[in-house]
This record gives sequence, structure tokens and C-alpha cells, in this order.
Amino acid sequence: MILCAAGDIHGALDRMFADILAFETALTVRFDWVLNVGDLGIWPEPARIDGATRRHEGAGDFPAWWVDARAMPRPTVFIKGNHEDFVWLDAQPNAEVLPGLHYLRNGHVHELRAADETLRVGGIGGCFGPSDFERHSASLQGYAKRHYTRDEIDALAAQDGLDIVLTHDAPAGVAFERHRRGVGYVSEAVGLDELLARTQPRICLFGHHHSRFDSTVAGVPCIGLNKSPHPGYLVAIEMRAAEREWRVLGEWPPRGLRA
Ligand SMILES: [Fe+2]
Repeated sequence: MILCAAGDIHGALDRMFADILAFETALTVRFDWVLNVGDLGIWPEPARIDGATRRHEGAGDFPAWWVDARAMPRPTVFIKGNHEDFVWLDAQPNAEVLPGLHYLRNGHVHELRAADETLRVGGIGGCFGPSDFERHSASLQGYAKRHYTRDEIDALAAQDGLDIVLTHDAPAGVAFERHRRGVGYVSEAVGLDELLARTQPRICLFGHHHSRFDSTVAGVPCIGLNKSPHPGYLVAIEMRAAEREWRVLGEWPPRGLRA
């Protein structure tokens, strides 16, 4: 199966799919699935965007895709980030919120199917919030829903045979070479490291930190994805159901194409 991992895009859906199609051409492949690690920018109603989104990216493209009920050019799975309409997401009756766009709730598993292969993907979206981590997920209201909780970690850790884990925050222990909080910043997102230790997926993909960065946590290779439109916000991965090994086919956009 050929996968395209995508970092935070903050509503830039049109650009992401244009980049994905260009990336396919460069690699001479067709992606079976796109996996987004949160901050896709799910704001169906522009009036409901949060303050940070208003100051930076704005409502993005999602309202237009939603109004037109547009189908994804490639099947896509996403987890929540920390800038989405969480109340709206929680209220969705179906995981497939638009044709081909599947919301993977915290603690749940989505099975990726392509040809005769199946890969199991687990998700923990949102970021670490010390004051909310030990609360029950069902008790979080409004903006607090941007935090993941221990019960969600435990629910996913009870799953067998995960091939891929998607997290928005970086599992605790990831030490960044460069980070907006300073050189050598170490992620404090507890629970995510424990999740990897307990489930031992073949790979973990994360975003949020706006940096393309490889690391290993609890023996699990972790790929940190950059923020759109910067180099390494898209990473192509070939993963077969029958083999533990996987490989990176390339990254997009290439360094030097965009600053
Ligand atoms: Fe984020």
C-alpha cells in the first residue's frame, strides 16, 4: 500500500491535493490513502473559528468543500489537531464526514483497505494538556476537547495489531534539534509514549510541532511532519500488510522549492 502522510495544513485543502497530485507525478505512484495528523482545519462554519486560527490562517478551504459536499481526490483519514471545530466533529453521526474523508476518533481504529491488503491505523488527536489528561474524555467541553485523555490512550492500547499510530502531538521523549521553544526541546506529551510502548506499531506519525523530524520512542520509529506548505509536510511511505519493514519513498515539497 502506498500512503501519503500529511502534516498540519490549517485548511489548505486545495493546495494539499494539488501538492499530492504533483508528488504522485514525481514519484510515478498513486496514493492509496492520505493520512493527516491533525489541524486539517475542520471549520464548517467560518464564524466559529478559534482566536489563533482567526489571527493566522483564517477559516481555510473546508467551508467550501463542506457546502459543495466535495469528494476527496484520494481517500483520506484524519485525526483532530488543536485547531478544529471539536463540538461539530463530536456531533458527526458518521466517521465519513465528506465522501472519502474519514474522521478517526481518539482511541479508535480505522482499517485501510487497498487491493487485497489491510492496514490498521489507530489515532490519538489533540495535544497534551496537564490539567485535562486525567479527566474523562466525555467530561471535556468546548475548547478543552483539544486535549487527549488517559481513557482514550487506554482504549487504543487495548487494540491488537496496530500497524500505524497517528498522533497530533509528539510522543513524550521526542527531542527536537530545532524548535520554537528552543534548541533541544523535549516533548512532554505523556501517554503517547506509553501508547507506543504498549502497542508497538510499525510507525508513528505526528505533527503539531511544525518540523520535519525523525525519532524513535519505545523502539517505534516516529516521523514528525512539517506544516503546510513547507518541505516535508508530505511524506510518501510504502507499507505492505505482510512485512514489518516499510520505506519512505520521498518527501514533498522538495527542499528549495519553497522556503
Ligand atoms: Fe497543532
